[in-house]
Amino acid sequence: MFDLLPAKNGEEPTMQFLLEVVDILTNYVRKTFDRSTKVLDFHHPHQLLEGMEGFNLELSEQPESLEQILVDCRDTLKYGVRTGHPRFFNQLSSGLDIIGLAGEWLTSTANTNMFTYEIAPVFVLMEQLTLKKMREIIGWPNGEGDGIFSPGGAISNMYSVMVARYKYFPEAKTKGMSAVPRLVLFTSEHSHYSIKKSGAALGFGVENVILLKSDERCVKVIPADLEAKIIEAKQKGYVPLFVNATAGTTVYGAFDPIDEIADLCEKYNMWLHVDGAWGGGLLMSRKHRHKLSGIERANSVTWNPHKMMGVPLQCSAILVREKGLLQGCNQMCAGYLFQPDKQYDVTYDTGDKAIQCGRHVDIFKFWLMWKAKGTIGFEQHINKCLELSEYLYNKIKDREGFEMVFRGEPQHTNVCFWYVPPSLRGMPDCEERRERLHKVAPKIKAMMMESGTTMVGYQPQGDKVNFFRMVISNQAATKSDIDFLIEEIERLGQDL
Ligand SMILES: Cc1ncc(COP(=O)(O)O)c(C=O)c1O
Repeated sequence: MFDLLPAKNGEEPTMQFLLEVVDILTNYVRKTFDRSTKVLDFHHPHQLLEGMEGFNLELSEQPESLEQILVDCRDTLKYGVRTGHPRFFNQLSSGLDIIGLAGEWLTSTANTNMFTYEIAPVFVLMEQLTLKKMREIIGWPNGEGDGIFSPGGAISNMYSVMVARYKYFPEAKTKGMSAVPRLVLFTSEHSHYSIKKSGAALGFGVENVILLKSDERCVKVIPADLEAKIIEAKQKGYVPLFVNATAGTTVYGAFDPIDEIADLCEKYNMWLHVDGAWGGGLLMSRKHRHKLSGIERANSVTWNPHKMMGVPLQCSAILVREKGLLQGCNQMCAGYLFQPDKQYDVTYDTGDKAIQCGRHVDIFKFWLMWKAKGTIGFEQHINKCLELSEYLYNKIKDREGFEMVFRGEPQHTNVCFWYVPPSLRGMPDCEERRERLHKVAPKIKAMMMESGTTMVGYQPQGDKVNFFRMVISNQAATKSDIDFLIEEIERLGQDL
């Protein structure tokens, strides 16, 4: 270990070591795309904690040999999950983009921090430029506005609530919530839980995050319900502050009607946020961007390139239409970082817009992928994933043993369905059937993970018992992988 750089004469052993690491990584990459490789080699937590042959998680007092360090690298990947495998459908973030990976390696090599231009000149400019491009795509005039990359969609959503509060009640920053009226936020019952979490974390209180009903068929917010709830809140003396419209809900992939919600936000002078963490990527597609129509009327937008656009984790933007709010809301002017008398234009020291101090460089891999694919490459990726979900929907909608949670072409790549094993087919809908069906998806999922062949998520939702939620964002997936998934579910579930 001590032979490596910066040790004297450390160059040769360092190169040797890094080449061996690269060999481990490239082998992993190669095998990830090989369908005969398993998606995972599942072990229970106690097994990994007890230690596997040659691989122990315990930290040691004495240095380990470089050979052991290489084994540790190899085994860490071995017992992990191949999220880039063409049959990994478990999460909204999936895939292994080679350019993005190279970007991440470079980022780690540079090992710098985004808070000032002083130490991240190129990355800060890339971030500014990319955010402007994203704002142009949203449709804000000349790409004007503001934004920042944050550690994920949940944090981007939290930024939106903070900025809305600052816009209408800037005194909350200095005096706290006791200096402002009782503020309420609105979001759909199907929106991501991070809006409620923001309500809790920012001192609004979860009870002041009012959940909106969705229509049964399209699972979109009902604008009339929003208006009724705004009026009700006002009658109680509360101040309606903020509405979140989701573009691509987490489970169903539904798009709220942004234009109609924007009308109400204008009428009642409220902040409109669009959570496009999952669906924002569709803006890149001329075929699908109409699903977000009205987004240009939003005051802020969350958009996670690390989901639908296949950028390696993490990469999530919060975009704000009005300039200056992020800075005003969050700035503390720490003298040791943001000296006003530096020799360059200090508006490029963007770190004080963030709620963090140090900030990871999330931009480079995204910028590099955009360079490599062009806007058109992202468009093709998104169109292809949506075509695959249509293929899946058409294949299972009338297939024996499959029941759709909703009928109708998928809006996003989410396809939600139950697998009904032969033992439950023909049984009338009753409590016993519901109880038994509830257990099917978890059992199939457990078997999938034990055999390591594929992964797909499941959950209950509202009054619906556990169902599978299929999502596709992985550029490696093909129709044959969708066929495989269907057959695998049938194989594993036939005797349940
Ligand atoms: C609609 C939506 N918003 C926000 C989030 C949170 O994103 P992240 O996991 O990047 O924090 C998710 C995650 O699934 C999501 O689906």
